[in-house]
Amino acid sequence: MGLQFRSLRILVLLICFLWRPRVGSPLSNSETKPAKALDTTLQEYAYRAFFHPRTGIPFDGLVPPYLTGIEISAMRLRSGSLFHRGVQTFKEFRVPTGIREEPYVERLVLVYQNLGNWSTTYYPLPGYTYLAPILGLLAYNGSDLSSTNLPELELWASNDPITIKFGQIRSKPASSHPKCVWFDRHGQVNFTNLEPDNQCLTYEQGHFSIVIESPPAPAPPEIAAPPEESVVTDGKENMPKVCTIVGIAGGGTILMVLMSLVIIWAWRYKKRKRIRELERAANAGEALRMTRVGSMRVPYAMATRTTPDLEIDFAS
Ligand SMILES: *[C@@H]1O[C@H](CO)[C@@H](O)[C@H](O)[C@H]1NC(C)=O
Ligand SMILES: *[C@@H]1O[C@H](CO)[C@@H](O)[C@H](O)[C@H]1NC(C)=O
Ligand SMILES: *[C@@H]1O[C@H](CO)[C@@H](O)[C@H](O)[C@H]1NC(C)=O
Repeated sequence: MGLQFRSLRILVLLICFLWRPRVGSPLSNSETKPAKALDTTLQEYAYRAFFHPRTGIPFDGLVPPYLTGIEISAMRLRSGSLFHRGVQTFKEFRVPTGIREEPYVERLVLVYQNLGNWSTTYYPLPGYTYLAPILGLLAYNGSDLSSTNLPELELWASNDPITIKFGQIRSKPASSHPKCVWFDRHGQVNFTNLEPDNQCLTYEQGHFSIVIESPPAPAPPEIAAPPEESVVTDGKENMPKVCTIVGIAGGGTILMVLMSLVIIWAWRYKKRKRIRELERAANAGEALRMTRVGSMRVPYAMATRTTPDLEIDFAS
């Protein structure tokens, strides 16, 4: 009986263990993916702003209606000019001399993003509160202004850092210490000191904002944490919920089927064990006797059984 209960417990644990990753894995990816997809979309729409492209002039673009609230702008530059002269102002950004890119391109386009009220949607940061919108600066190959799906170039400041001047930020509690936050191209988060006049410094491109640590939430963590489901765009918000329901229903069904199988198996095991016990009891009366053959003891049975065949070299 104890053995069967233990098997059942192990089975249930095994099911839970196997079940969890399937529910968890789509969510763990969703942190960076929507933001990456947004970059691709905004690159395409920013490039459309160039009707009569002139180098060094910012062109404000229009975002698709479903992204209302986001501002974009694009500036086309010759790589050499960017390196030698920098860009005095491009929205909140000041780009110094000495900027390099990899791979080298003759012309590049800097795409500016202001995510406005979409900042927390695309860049959720549990435990922190944004005091400013997310601002992005990304560099792309500027040779062909009709290209879409372009990979970002690697861009870095080899002398002075790039400055981001946020201007007005949301008022903060007196005791809090605002920090600059930087999301790099791979979605890595890093915090740096906030400079005077609400400025942040960076040696690389990416997405930037100013944050304070959120006061400890009184609610339980599963409610206090920003909902990961809301990261998904384009009306797919309900997908994870549906998955959970389907998962629970499916899991329940499988669990019931498995439990039935275990019960059947336990019943048959018990039956087989009983048959074996009966067999053993029946055989007990027919104990084997030992006899000597040469120097060895070998069993021999009663006359009712066939006598053991002794091989020649066995007997010698
Ligand atoms: C941001 O604001 C715009 C209107 O200005 C609205 O259409 C959009 O739904 C808002 N986005 C979010 C994520 O709240
Ligand atoms: C940049 O784009 C042009 C035109 O599409 C292409 O010929 C060139 O190879 C690209 N450069 C890099 C480094 O991808
Ligand atoms: C974050 O910034 C610090 C200081 O500049 C640096 O040492 C660290 O490597 C950075 N981390 C990442 C993930 O970039």
